[in-house]
Amino acid sequence: MVEHEKIYMEKHRMTDKVLISPNTTLYPVPVVLVTCGNREENNVITLNRIASCNAEPPMISISVRPGRASHGLIEQYGEFVVNLPWPDMEVVCDFVGATTLRKIDKWAETGLKRLPANQVQPPLLADCPVNLECKVIQTVKLPSHSLFIAEVVALHADSQVVNARGEVDFDLAQGGLVYRSAIVRERPVDNFRPQQLRASVHQWRDNRPA
Ligand SMILES: Cc1cc2nc3c(=O)[nH]c(=O)nc-3n(C[C@H](O)[C@H](O)[C@H](O)COP(=O)(O)O)c2cc1C
Repeated sequence: MVEHEKIYMEKHRMTDKVLISPNTTLYPVPVVLVTCGNREENNVITLNRIASCNAEPPMISISVRPGRASHGLIEQYGEFVVNLPWPDMEVVCDFVGATTLRKIDKWAETGLKRLPANQVQPPLLADCPVNLECKVIQTVKLPSHSLFIAEVVALHADSQVVNARGEVDFDLAQGGLVYRSAIVRERPVDNFRPQQLRASVHQWRDNRPA
């Protein structure tokens, strides 16, 4: 081991383990904007409970609490789109994840732009560089969340994040879309203040490139 590696290990390796209450701590944590509904009536929700869960065919899973307005739409239409945000959209993710379709017009507040999808009814978010169109194939009711397991039936990517082999490569862009927060609490929305976020999300909406 070279000297700088030794210093790193001494600095970062845990020497004492502390037993803390169990939760779903993982690192890093992706945060995505999921669109759901149909062509006329649709919604957007922020999710961090998302995982790749099968390769052939490509499948991902998302976990949504039954109380969310989006839960009903995903159950009703059996389709959703996973939109991967740019790092500067963290404020949008916070806002969309702290407000509900039942009380607010998230489209007007955020100015997020929608595009028609190819295979599913919910729209793609034009503001996001990657969009995965998904069809639900199985739903598992867990104690607090519904786990929607879905096949990825179409994948869209901005050309700037596609490499010569036709793969999405975020190293080509602004360096990844991992959520800045290193702590993901069980109920992240408890810490968000929609009124304060509104001003920041309006600033994002009004200052982004046309
Ligand atoms: C960073 C972040 C991650 C979230 N992850 C999830 C999640 O994985 N599952 C979930 O049900 N809600 C999650 N939420 C909460 C929903 O986004 C939030 O309740 C939202 O207001 C629901 O909107 P709706 O009622 O319009 O569907 C998250 C919120 C934030 C801010």
